[in-house]
Amino acid sequence: MRRLQGKVALVSGGASGIGLASARRLAEEGAEVVLADLNRDGAERAAAEIPGASAELLDVTSDADWRRAADAVAARHGRVDIVVNSAGIVAFGSIEDVSLEDWRRTMAVNLDGTFLGCRHGVRVMKATGRGGAIVNLSSVSGIIGGHNIAAYNAAKGAVRLLTKSVALHCARKGYGIRCNSVHPGFVETPMLDAVVNQGRNPQDTRAKLQAGVPLGRNARPEEVAAMIAYLASDEAAFVTGAEFVIDGGVTAM
Ligand code: NAI
Repeated sequence: MRRLQGKVALVSGGASGIGLASARRLAEEGAEVVLADLNRDGAERAAAEIPGASAELLDVTSDADWRRAADAVAARHGRVDIVVNSAGIVAFGSIEDVSLEDWRRTMAVNLDGTFLGCRHGVRVMKATGRGGAIVNLSSVSGIIGGHNIAAYNAAKGAVRLLTKSVALHCARKGYGIRCNSVHPGFVETPMLDAVVNQGRNPQDTRAKLQAGVPLGRNARPEEVAAMIAYLASDEAAFVTGAEFVIDGGVTAM
């Protein structure tokens, strides 16, 4: 399917995991994709393997970086139709033991980064007058709590409602810009590897995580990318301000 032919997409966190899988899928569907990441080398290496793709250095916590990156993509490609806000980090800690530094960093990357991505996404999409689609990576952790991820829960829960506010504002203004959130469960990416490797026995930890999933396994990043590609496409023209869970049944319990 070439549902995204002629569209231009900016993917934050595009050097790894879900962002990288999304970049590949959007390109397969015809989009010109820009992988924007703090990891410039990783983004450049990945972009070199995706037809028509390029890389941008972007620290999502920086307003100036977002302005420069969004303007650069709009200038180079003449438009921006899709923004995927996938850059994210996870920090562990309950309300009693999360450090203020970890709290602030988690909020800065996951929440400020998505806020700025939406803000600059709307700005450059609005300028073309052709509308567009923004897809924000929240998590099942934006819907249900975990005792040891206070900062991540707070950031991802906020992304969920920020998404709805962006969607309603754009609808009210008649911009033709849609905004939706995606809520994965465990996805096999370097982020999950880091989580699993924190345990004393990583194999055991991974098995335990999978055992808690009704479908009995973790997601592949390509499965999340398929949902993102749908939301980015015109097939989702009537879908905005909505939340899309992809968790193998975890939140159904
Ligand atoms: P990942 O760790 O594989 O990739 C994250 C990417 O974000 C990396 O390329 C990293 O360099 C980039 N990044 C980090 N800080 C940045 C910054 N300040 N500016 C720009 N780029 C930055 O992670 P993964 O698994 O692909 O996660 C993507 C998104 O999906 C995140 O928002 C994450 O919270 C969310 N998610 C992941 C789940 C999982 O199990 N892997 C589950 C639910 C949600």
